[in-house]
Amino acid sequence: MKLVVLFAAVLATGVAAAADLAAGAAKAQTCVPCHGPAGISQVAETPSLAGQPDGFLQWQLVFFRTGTRKSPLMQPMAATLKDDDIRNLAAYFSAQKPPRVDPAAKADEALVAAGRKVAQGNRCTSCHKDDFSGAQATPRLAAQREDYLLKALRDFKAGRRVGGGVAAMADVVYPLVDDDLRALAHFLAHMPS
Ligand code: HEC
Ligand code: HEC
Repeated sequence: MKLVVLFAAVLATGVAAAADLAAGAAKAQTCVPCHGPAGISQVAETPSLAGQPDGFLQWQLVFFRTGTRKSPLMQPMAATLKDDDIRNLAAYFSAQKPPRVDPAAKADEALVAAGRKVAQGNRCTSCHKDDFSGAQATPRLAAQREDYLLKALRDFKAGRRVGGGVAAMADVVYPLVDDDLRALAHFLAHMPS
């Protein structure tokens, strides 16, 4: 119940106040050491933020701030953010160009094909969209870092990541084995955005 009220509050403020992109860009300087310049991460197990849906970014920052999503690195960061900061940061990062598939990272075609098959058999695109660009509270996955995708899938599988408490991803990964998760991460990391 409390969470529903919180969601409603974030949505309502999101509509009421226009985001300040310049303020978001200024605040985003503190994110660069981990999430990279313009939100393209060069750091292991750290996601790129560029081109993520605005709503997704806002929710995740709220989840870190309230502690429903755990991360020793992100929780202290999010704890200092006010609602305005969250709105401005999300607007800034969602307006940046999404990551490109790393041309140096060679795709293993068999693993890509295996990942595509698992994705098709588990209706990933019904929420993440056909091109895996995400929408609203559902993240972009195309060309995200492979190590981060694998970590996220394993965290959902192990119940370490619950986020908003909506069981969408827990249900999705429940029947999958670790080889499926590896294949999915490889397939998605090599999907052009
Ligand atoms: C000290 C490193 C560090 C800093 C600084 C940092 N982050 Fe993060 N961030 C991380 C890591 C690591 C994760 C992945 C957490 C996990 O394992 O689930 C993350 C995850 C996120 C996510 C979730 C994205 C997703 O795809 O699930 C968002 C949103 C985010 N950070 C926003 C920010 C913003 C905005 C700032 C600056 C105000 C910031 N971060 C600063 C390390 C950092
Ligand atoms: C019913 C809708 C739904 C389906 C189906 C679904 N997802 Fe998700 N997915 C979500 C939502 C919503 C989130 C954000 C979760 C949160 O807020 O904690 C998410 C998060 C993720 C993340 C974390 C990304 C990040 O940046 O943190 C990955 C990876 C992921 N999904 C992969 C998949 C894969 C692979 C499939 C198919 C096997 C799939 N999803 C199917 C809704 C869905």
